[in-house]
Amino acid sequence: MATDDDDRDPFAEFEHASGAGVVRDPYPIFAEMRRECPVFKGPYGDRFGLPVPESMMSKSGAYYTALSYDAVQRVLLDGETFSSSGYAPTVGMLMGHSILEMDEPEHGRYRALIQQAFGLKVMERWEADIVAPIVHGLIDRVVDRGCAELVRELTLPFPIQVIAAILGLPEADLPRFHRWAVELISIMVDIARGFEASQKLRDYFAGILAERRVAPRDDLISVLSQAELDGQRLTDEEIFAFLRLLLPAGAETTYRSSSSLLFGLLTHPDQLDAVRGDRTLIKRAIEEGLRWEPPLTGIARLAMRDVELAGTRIPEGAVVSACLGAANRDDTRWERPDDFDVFREPKPHLAFAYGAHTCLGMHLARMETRVMLNAVFDRLPGLRLDPTAEDVHVTGLAFRAPRALPVLFG
Ligand code: HEM
Repeated sequence: MATDDDDRDPFAEFEHASGAGVVRDPYPIFAEMRRECPVFKGPYGDRFGLPVPESMMSKSGAYYTALSYDAVQRVLLDGETFSSSGYAPTVGMLMGHSILEMDEPEHGRYRALIQQAFGLKVMERWEADIVAPIVHGLIDRVVDRGCAELVRELTLPFPIQVIAAILGLPEADLPRFHRWAVELISIMVDIARGFEASQKLRDYFAGILAERRVAPRDDLISVLSQAELDGQRLTDEEIFAFLRLLLPAGAETTYRSSSSLLFGLLTHPDQLDAVRGDRTLIKRAIEEGLRWEPPLTGIARLAMRDVELAGTRIPEGAVVSACLGAANRDDTRWERPDDFDVFREPKPHLAFAYGAHTCLGMHLARMETRVMLNAVFDRLPGLRLDPTAEDVHVTGLAFRAPRALPVLFG
């Protein structure tokens, strides 16, 4: 597939490093940890035999994990105490100085500039011109077959194609673009490879950005190259950092969340029927899927001062992981938190984080998932899990999704 060199499979390596096939259901352990204390001393991977690589640790080695909804929310709301700059020596080394690692006031300025490219009007155009044709194009390939593997044939490819189309990249570049993006986030597997991928993405984007500066088109790279706030524009390096972030942030997450949502519906056929029959329930189903199985179970912050969090003293310089997975199943906030239930009373969850760094692409992700679900309901009647398929389940620790969704329809 890719133009790159050897036989190693970065996708499989990434899957393994993120706990796929190792951790099947982390939620009973999250619940036990949360019951012991809302803040755990150490990275949550410790409890699963998946230690955090040293490159991701703080200088002092101090590490804490917030597990309760309130503790996670507090960490994410107080960016002054719990800074995002902890990403700089890890993720930032590879991505460049991206929005993810910025604190206020730099973050707010930068976000206001980028947000111009994610407005509601644009979303309507992306839905009609990009997302719907991509989703339907993928369904066209399976619709007459009566069976499909929905991860490989739909939920994995569609968000990547969407990001590439939004950026205005040629379709032929997709495989290597995807490969570099996965290598980029696989720093826990191979840091040298991550750097190589970072450089390749930079060179690749540099060519396209230069073209768009001369002849702007109707795509995100052109918009970013023109975006202006108080007379200031984004530099080329700022644009590269954002673009590098976009594929892992936008495609990896959406593929996983839409796969887990389909898994939830397929394993609860009564709810599948209800949502298919009453499309006003789609919105709730999407939020319940995100609460029940957030694709990313933890994000990180750096303590800028000694601070007390839910009764635990955290020293300045410690890494504080905000465990979105544990927070989203906090039984003091949700009854029967382990049940997938699209009928439960809607309440905000933390899958898109909270506070200043709340996911910038959440409206896009929700729209993509809605379009995908409607298309699946409209075009694959009688959709059900293939009864001969063995042990379909969600897997992973840091990143979670089902590996496959073999289905029958028609
Ligand atoms: C279901 C899908 C998605 C989930 C669960 C998700 C989750 C998240 C989370 C948890 C964060 C906070 C990270 C942190 O502060 O450490 C975040 C930030 C971000 N996400 Fe998403 N995301 C999704 C889809 C997308 C999409 C589709 C895009 C764009 C195309 C996107 C772009 C971003 C960007 C740019 C940020 C950084 C925002 C900032 O730092 O101010 N995400 N996302």
